[in-house]
Amino acid sequence: MTSDGFENLLHERRVFAPSDEFKAQANAQPSLYGAADADRLAFWEDQAGRLHWDRKWDLPLDWTDAPFAQWFVGGKLNVAVNCVDRHVNDGYGEQVAIHFEGEPGDTRAITYQQLQDEVCQAANALVELGIEAGDRVAIYLPMIPEAVISMLACARLGAAHSVIFGGFSAEALRSRINDAQAKLVITADGGYRRGKAAALKPAVDEAVTETPSVNNVLVVERTGQEVEWTQRDLRWKDLVGRQSTTHVPQAFDSEHPLFILYTSGTTGSPKGILHTSGGYLTQTAYTHYNVFDFKANTDVFWCTADIGWITGHSYVVYGPLANRATQVLYEGTPDSPHQGRWWEIIEKYGVTTLYTAPTAIRTFSKWGREIPQEFDLSSLRLLGSVGEPINPEAWMWYRSVIGGNRCPIVDTWWQTETGAIMISPLPGITECKPGSAMRPLPGICAKIVDDAGVPVGNSEGGYLVLDEPWPAMLRGIWGDPQRYIETYWSRWPGVYFAGDGAKYDSQGAMWLLGRVDDVMNISGHRISTAEVESALVSHPATAEAAVVGANDETTGQAIVAFVILREHAEISESTVDDLRAHVAREIGPIAKPRQVLIVKELPKTRSGKIMRRLLRDVAENRSLGDMSTLADPAVMGLIADGLSAPGAVED
Ligand code: PRX
Repeated sequence: MTSDGFENLLHERRVFAPSDEFKAQANAQPSLYGAADADRLAFWEDQAGRLHWDRKWDLPLDWTDAPFAQWFVGGKLNVAVNCVDRHVNDGYGEQVAIHFEGEPGDTRAITYQQLQDEVCQAANALVELGIEAGDRVAIYLPMIPEAVISMLACARLGAAHSVIFGGFSAEALRSRINDAQAKLVITADGGYRRGKAAALKPAVDEAVTETPSVNNVLVVERTGQEVEWTQRDLRWKDLVGRQSTTHVPQAFDSEHPLFILYTSGTTGSPKGILHTSGGYLTQTAYTHYNVFDFKANTDVFWCTADIGWITGHSYVVYGPLANRATQVLYEGTPDSPHQGRWWEIIEKYGVTTLYTAPTAIRTFSKWGREIPQEFDLSSLRLLGSVGEPINPEAWMWYRSVIGGNRCPIVDTWWQTETGAIMISPLPGITECKPGSAMRPLPGICAKIVDDAGVPVGNSEGGYLVLDEPWPAMLRGIWGDPQRYIETYWSRWPGVYFAGDGAKYDSQGAMWLLGRVDDVMNISGHRISTAEVESALVSHPATAEAAVVGANDETTGQAIVAFVILREHAEISESTVDDLRAHVAREIGPIAKPRQVLIVKELPKTRSGKIMRRLLRDVAENRSLGDMSTLADPAVMGLIADGLSAPGAVED
């Protein structure tokens, strides 16, 4: 656990209460906590009432087969109908659902009626390709409307989508397609990033050479760049464009699979996190409404996450659309064509609610306050943060420079596995402390426990656990029920261990302290040390590799790799660059190490376990901590020698 981070927060005494004005109009009032405490399951049943059910559930929760939960047992609904058709039926067909802003400046305003038409067309196209309820569809797209439409088309048919982040490599794509046995891949020729057309289809072409389950590749034309074409490939424009805009939806069981999303764990192979329908949609809608104080008639919501991550699933697609949001979808990077692009978008669309990651906030603060100050940000009324601990200084910058000292900030803690926000202030109720996610939401049971699983008291730290099931919880790891039990439910009986360290302050507010396992958090994205190590070891020059996440001012953590080369490996000036590029090829540019340090030895315990703690000390230039369990203390000297040797470069 990082003692450094904790030092900071011990000194953090600032507290910000919501204004009387905000309080008076807030969706969430203090009675929400009381209602959930009085009868948690009845509270969740009330929340499920936010949705349209074709058949009401018989039982709110079946936990008899724990840790395999069933929520709203016997209920039936169609998730896509809840996110689209019902708003049209309620008379809001003309309301804009999505303000799409392409990076080159092209725009599209898509109303709920148009969204319904396009989702139906896409669903009909999928039916024509033989996709049925229960199938899996891989989606590998840039941030364009077709990404949302594809996800909803799958949901409408009861086919589980597996969205793979467009920054992942062909190899990562292939392994995910094969794990889920996807029948169809939906992709695009490319997308715009940093002013250039970045190709996507070649990675799919490479991946599908070894994915026997894939029958077709459906290709959206976004950039118009040249792509290879095979018999398996179909053009979105042709196939989807000629379909009927009507499609009769079917209602699915509350526990019908909605999607699989792969995330890193402590081993080399990513886990397919499985989410189902009724409980997931209930909690995403509930949290979007209360945490973001969402007002369907006046708010313009913008969650900047890519749909390749859980935040994009829950707070670009399902939560906001279930609540009839008008939202912004932006394709590109924050610095294209200039560093004020986000603020320009906020001014242009009158964005009221911005939900983003600390790494972005730190980057903007580095670029300087003069940039956002050139734009009118007065439409903003609420700010959110997600993905990693937000350091108090970044929080204060966000509050004053972006929020004009008037917007509450909700620091929201949750995970791919939890499906929706779990710990967060409620903006009209909670006093906020910069850097704290404050307390579990009504209906959520989270605690901090010690090694023995005993809850700790105020001013004490330990492990964050969830000790009651929640509606949006993962239902398992795709194809591996045993791994699900072992990974999440075996450290303390009957309790979900989240992998994070946390601490209560003297008043009982929660402070998240980062991962306690071998998972790194790079710009709010999870990468496991084991994944990067396997990628490094798959390079012919590598004998052994150890990877740590070192503190980084901008990205939160950065990947630092220690590599022992094979004896006969040819070392050249470019070895370090080759290794970095190799990792980017194997996993994706996001996993490219910031530094590769060529060393002669790695510090190990007598039982052969790599002592990452010491490597982290080296990576962060700290004096070395306790080395008493090190089998051979001399290796740290060898590492230090290695650091001064040629090849140990950093860029
Ligand atoms: O370590 C926590 C960190 O991100 C992890 C979950 O990552 P992922 O599944 O990729 O989901 C990210 C978006 C929900 C957590 O185990 N994390 C997420 N939000 C916060 C956070 N750490 C501190 N504060 C947060 N608000």
